[in-house]
Amino acid sequence: MKRASLLTLIVLVWGTGHAESADPNGAGYDAARWDPIHFKPAILEATDEQCLDCHREVLESRIREASPAGLKADQALAWYQTLDTYQGDQETFHRRHLVSDYATQVMSLKCNTCHLGNDPREETAMSHAGGDPTLIQRKHVEPEVCLMCHGGFSYQIMAVPGPWAEYGAAFQDNCLLCHAIFRTNRHRVNYLKADAIEALAKENKDGCYGCHGGRSWYRISFPYPRNPWPGMAEAVPDWAKGRPTESEARFLVGVEATPAADNVQGNKP
Ligand code: HEC
Ligand code: HEC
Ligand code: HEC
Ligand code: HEC
Ligand code: HEC
Repeated sequence: MKRASLLTLIVLVWGTGHAESADPNGAGYDAARWDPIHFKPAILEATDEQCLDCHREVLESRIREASPAGLKADQALAWYQTLDTYQGDQETFHRRHLVSDYATQVMSLKCNTCHLGNDPREETAMSHAGGDPTLIQRKHVEPEVCLMCHGGFSYQIMAVPGPWAEYGAAFQDNCLLCHAIFRTNRHRVNYLKADAIEALAKENKDGCYGCHGGRSWYRISFPYPRNPWPGMAEAVPDWAKGRPTESEARFLVGVEATPAADNVQGNKP
């Protein structure tokens, strides 16, 4: 009994110290936790620096050197870490998406690309019998966002006979063989570095596959918007009926208008 309460005390003391450090302005743990920046509309405008004022740990904390079972991190490699673009030591999820060499080369994800907050009145869906089923946890991240880069390779619509791992070689492991002609108007969004991606794809065979099938957590693939490209046929194929013709509005904020000569070659319909 005594031992249990001592443990509780230690946890409480550690817990408070920890919480205070999460609020540089000293307004207290609860004020920080319920800071309006976590919720819409403020979260949509928030900068990474504002979030990192309190959450620096997401970029600073590192993975364990070994798992509790003793497996050393530097001797482990998961299937999704075998692509040619994967480099360096094991890293945390946030570091892999925000600060690794590869991430900074091809992406510029922000905290609010993934974190969009929720209704501050209630964290959890169906928390009581009449509860709202659409509410999400604050931690919740829209899985559609992940699907954009971690969906399956949709060979069915590409005139590629099967999965890229099996049939890529027949196309010289080169997506650009076709994608110099089809769907050339791509990646003009505020969380990707479009030009760097094109350059990388010319020298690394996994440069495109990495975000379009090579790390698929899902069997489905994202229904990408179908930005018009030069030479595009007017008829819309059945599978593409109802697709948007440009990216989600929040991903276009701050994106410079595409130079006609560069991307659309003066052909814009
Ligand atoms: C004033 C300090 C402060 C700011 C600024 C801040 N947070 Fe928080 N945040 C907190 C605190 C404190 C918690 C509660 C942590 C807990 O309960 O473990 C929290 C919780 C969270 C959680 C849920 C974590 C969990 O374990 O449930 C997420 C996700 C989060 N914040 C993301 C963000 C993002 C994204 C931003 C920027 C838009 C941001 N925060 C800005 C202090 C802050
Ligand atoms: C690629 C999408 C993505 C980006 C970008 C991102 N996060 Fe997260 N974040 C997640 C996911 C997924 C989780 C885990 C959610 C869960 O466990 O339910 C998470 C969890 C968190 C948590 C909870 C503590 C933890 O480590 O699990 C905090 C705090 C947080 N993120 C803050 C941030 C901040 C601050 C930024 C910007 C510097 C950021 N995130 C950028 C997807 C992202
Ligand atoms: C804009 C594209 C993009 C988005 C959006 C994205 N990822 Fe990733 N993700 C990547 C890339 C690229 C890598 C590989 C990074 C590397 O090799 O350094 C990666 C790696 C990963 C890894 C492996 C990390 C490791 O240590 O090897 C996991 C797990 C992951 N992503 C999950 C998610 C989840 C969950 C989401 C949604 C919250 C998400 N990703 C959103 C592009 C993205
Ligand atoms: C044999 C030619 C060919 C090859 C090789 C090819 N694609 Fe495609 N791809 C297409 C065609 C055709 C479409 C559909 C064009 C349209 O929208 O009408 C397409 C569509 C796509 C789409 C959009 C899917 C959607 O649902 O909107 C993505 C993403 C894509 N390809 C990525 C790739 C990547 C990455 C590779 C290499 C790993 C690749 N493609 C290799 C021909 C090809
Ligand atoms: C870092 C991740 C990443 C890499 C690398 C990447 N893509 Fe994408 N791709 C995306 C995302 C995210 C989208 C959706 C963007 C949007 O909303 O318009 C996309 C969209 C597309 C589309 C649909 C464009 C449209 O509007 O019709 C095609 C085609 C495509 N990618 C092909 C490629 C090819 C070819 C390469 C290599 C040159 C490549 N991708 C490399 C993440 C990536």
